[in-house]
Amino acid sequence: MLILGIETTCDETAAAVVADGRTILSNVIASQALVHQPFGGVVPELASREHLRRLPRVVEQALQEARIGIRQVDRIAVAQGPGLIGALLVGINTAKGLALSLNRPLVGVNHVEAHLYAAMMGTSDPIPMPALGVVISGGHTALLKIEGQGRYQLISTTIDDAVGEAFDKVAALLGLPYPGGPEVEKLAREGDPSRYTFKAGVVKGKPLAFSFSGLKTSVLYAVKGVGSDKQSALAVPKEDLPHVAAAFQETALGDLVNKITLASHLYGCRSVVIGGGVSHNRRLRDLLLSSPLPIFWPPPGLALDNAAMIAGLAYHQAPYENLDLSAEPRLKPFWLSHNVT
Ligand code: KG4
Ligand code: ZN
Repeated sequence: MLILGIETTCDETAAAVVADGRTILSNVIASQALVHQPFGGVVPELASREHLRRLPRVVEQALQEARIGIRQVDRIAVAQGPGLIGALLVGINTAKGLALSLNRPLVGVNHVEAHLYAAMMGTSDPIPMPALGVVISGGHTALLKIEGQGRYQLISTTIDDAVGEAFDKVAALLGLPYPGGPEVEKLAREGDPSRYTFKAGVVKGKPLAFSFSGLKTSVLYAVKGVGSDKQSALAVPKEDLPHVAAAFQETALGDLVNKITLASHLYGCRSVVIGGGVSHNRRLRDLLLSSPLPIFWPPPGLALDNAAMIAGLAYHQAPYENLDLSAEPRLKPFWLSHNVT
């Protein structure tokens, strides 16, 4: 079954063709990073306009690279949310138009669940179950027990910021350009993490829950002084910023690794499946090299936002009976909409 996937939840315009939920025939991603960079973050209205401008060509390119004609597509899949409403509408209406004109079923996919599915697309071997699912994106941080395809039990989540959001906010504090996560990683490579000490967030009575807001404030106070705000001037020499970035990164990623280790032990997991933008971080991959459990990462091109993960997951989902699919900017967490084991 050939599925054409479309992804426009945020600032990546993407289309992909995937066969049988696994074989990636094409994966085209048009990044809008340069459009939003001058504003220090994603400007929703600009994102919608860019999607509108680019999506037709991105879809065409995905079909060309897959060497198929549009009529060979069996299903159209689209990210339904969560995301920016205007951006989602562009992808959803394009998908509806294609489904209607080609008379093909339409599948709406949860973007965050697709991030986790991306990690399962990197292997043709069966993933030992139960697996620990780790969602680390710009909007979500969660640990889940995965019993099988689409069967999740939530273990823990964050009580405040997502881990990717913490990277982005720290990047802004350090004066780094948007998108911040990869910039923090780059700067951290030049730093000595032992020069600053930060503490990972602890949630009382919930050893597996995350909290990144306090860590972000500690970084703010370290670079701009206690009681400062993000507008304040730097209180440390510029040469110290790589050390701060490195110490922050070690603390945030160390916290992830500790909780992954503890959760997989407590929940009897036989493997770990990691998805979401922060899985792109090389340091995280290094920290998990010594893990006793097999770790499944998204294959190249599938860690950050992409449409291959949308087309892949759609293979496992029932299509809509009609075109009655709405954009869901605040689509509820995917683990709430599946049978909890
Ligand atoms: O999963 P994603 O592409 O979009 C969402 O669905 O949120 O994740 C984007 C997040 C951003 O917060 C970004 O800063 C973070 O992933 N990120 C990274 C790295 N690359 C992307 N964080 C740390 N290190 C990276 N190399
Ligand atoms: Zn994403």
